[in-house]
Amino acid sequence: MLKTIEWTDQGVVILDQLQLPAREVYHTCTRYEEVADAIRRMVIRGAPAIGVAAAMGIALGVRDSAARDLPALEQEFNRILEVMAKTRPTAVNLFWAIERMRQVFRRTAAGGVDAVRRALVEEARRVYAEDLAQCAAIAQHGAVLIPACAQVLTHCNAGALAAAGGYGTALGVIRSAVEQGKQVQVLATETRPYLQGARLTAWELHHDRIPTTLITDNMVGHFMKTGKIDCVVVGADRIAANGDTANKIGTYTIAVLAREHGVPFYVAAPFSSIDLSLPSGEQIPIEERSPDEVTQIGGVRIAPADVPARHPAFDITPARLISAIITERGIARPPYEHSLKALAETPVPTAS
Ligand code: MRU
Repeated sequence: MLKTIEWTDQGVVILDQLQLPAREVYHTCTRYEEVADAIRRMVIRGAPAIGVAAAMGIALGVRDSAARDLPALEQEFNRILEVMAKTRPTAVNLFWAIERMRQVFRRTAAGGVDAVRRALVEEARRVYAEDLAQCAAIAQHGAVLIPACAQVLTHCNAGALAAAGGYGTALGVIRSAVEQGKQVQVLATETRPYLQGARLTAWELHHDRIPTTLITDNMVGHFMKTGKIDCVVVGADRIAANGDTANKIGTYTIAVLAREHGVPFYVAAPFSSIDLSLPSGEQIPIEERSPDEVTQIGGVRIAPADVPARHPAFDITPARLISAIITERGIARPPYEHSLKALAETPVPTAS
């Protein structure tokens, strides 16, 4: 099984996604600041993976803190949470993980510093194990939506690399359909400007021998019109209570094209990506990254010097363009205000 991240006694081991597909390099982060930096620089990326990394980073920081008493440890803990919270703003999994660790600290504080340290490490390991189990459940639920013989379009990377490892979310649905014997061909968009589709999705699916064809983002309309695309499956960084979904920039364009061509458009995500506190996508913060990521490819400048560029890293797909949202608790259909709330109240599969 492909492992994106792993907790070890030596530190948090992270697969460096900046070096894929050329090199498979793992770094051991021995300080929480290194984990935060890996999230910020997208050494590790993808909403569920960001959540797992944040939980492990927090556990690492607390485990290795020099604090001897609870007030000192709490001060250090709050500092670590602040550093983590400032890494990337859109994927709600980051804030979900931070909140989860905060609750564990509160619950175990009465037991003293050693109890808190132990509990946070255990919780980080639990977040990891649950992520693997949730992705497997998403894959199972979603596979029924894939026709027996299908060409599926996906955008960005919502696979093992975007999660703790294993199935991933959108690619998990595809993997599970393939395991069930369905004939699936994947069209993967390259995903400018960071090229998660070309570098990561193509690598992952190729590794699993799932037939995959790479296209540039601006070819989607052409293939929807002329080639047969049976459905679109993408991941999500944050889903509001009404189903509006933030995902990698370009997702909205694909959803509009899918509606025009009558192609079902599915979002696959764990509940840790669902933010029921936000009524709609309008409240989702969109990360704006460096324009250099647009004016340069692999460090080589492709635009004239000084030309202004923008890099919003995500866009919002309105709920009305989404045919279904696949979660570990089942499939939500419109109206999402009701179906997501109903699923939120159903029991969660827990890691064994
Ligand atoms: O900027 P990234 O690479 O972190 O963005 C990732 C995506 O947009 C993914 O589609 C999303 O996180 C879903 S991951 C299962």
